Amino acid sequence: MSDELRQTAAALVAEGKGILAADESNGTMNKRLKAAGVEESEEMRRALRELLFTTEGAAEHISGVILYDETFRQSTADGTPFPRLLQQQGVIPGIKVDTGAKPLAGADGETITEGLDGLRDRLTEYYDGGARFAKWRAVISLDDERPTPYAIGVNAHALARYAALCQEAGIVPIVEPEVLMDGDHTIDRAEEVSGTVLAAVFAELRQQRVLLEGMLLKPNMVLAGYASSDQPSHEEVAERTLRCLRRHVPAAVPGIAFLSGGQSDEDATIRLNLMNQMGPQPWEVSFSYGRGLQAAALTTWAGDDAKRQDAQAQYRHRARCTGAARQGEYSEDMEEELAVTG
Ligand code: 13P
Repeated sequence: MSDELRQTAAALVAEGKGILAADESNGTMNKRLKAAGVEESEEMRRALRELLFTTEGAAEHISGVILYDETFRQSTADGTPFPRLLQQQGVIPGIKVDTGAKPLAGADGETITEGLDGLRDRLTEYYDGGARFAKWRAVISLDDERPTPYAIGVNAHALARYAALCQEAGIVPIVEPEVLMDGDHTIDRAEEVSGTVLAAVFAELRQQRVLLEGMLLKPNMVLAGYASSDQPSHEEVAERTLRCLRRHVPAAVPGIAFLSGGQSDEDATIRLNLMNQMGPQPWEVSFSYGRGLQAAALTTWAGDDAKRQDAQAQYRHRARCTGAARQGEYSEDMEEELAVTG
């Protein structure tokens, strides 16, 4: 079992590759479809996922795709289940297993991520359906009063319970404690809070006997709040993020797979690239982007079948750029290549 976990984790952060997070819940996906002028329906959610998963060449840069339960059970128009379609391309199917961040009792404005009830049985079913890795996202909000030690503690505990259950089922847990970058806080404060959260998460992971070699960490980059007037340079973001991770993430963890968290596509790519240029690090430094890989494709497609190929070219382009950044080989000139190579 532990060999399988190690192999899956290593494959997910293989050279030049990272993860596509296509696991938006129906509510989140509908919001994104609506913003792009697309009908909010099961069929349109399916059509977008088919567009992404059938993009030729993307699998050169994508090791695994995180699916939402609905997508895990859907198929291409010609009847190939999505998990099988991915496997046929050598891409590992993954599954989001949390059921969302809900208000935390007695804590003003903080959340606890739910989904532990019945998780053992769900994991067995997902494994049988082809899933070899999973995701659970804890959400930590940040302002002058928050996060409280209470919110950090319960979220860290739940992340570790999820991770232990995944490993029991042969599934690699992606442990995602996301410190939100909404607000006007400084990068100093983001670094301090990100470090406190990571320390709590790794204490719980050890306590609950999670095999560090058989998991991946999906953290936020250390950024100033989006509303802050004091925005650091890309170099400072990369340096602070690496410093924070080196202080708190054991070298036994095979890989870090960043979320993009609402950064612009190019910022998310440039910063990942810089961190890889600053290597080597004790762990692979890769990506698990949602918006950072798909946003341009969704806007281009906008529900119009005539734009399908253009949208696939957008997705292939972002996968190529992000895959290069994962090796420290991205340059902004690559952004010009889209028109030429598609
Ligand atoms: P973003 O890259 O859009 O932040 O999504 C990644 C993710 O899976 C958040 O849970």
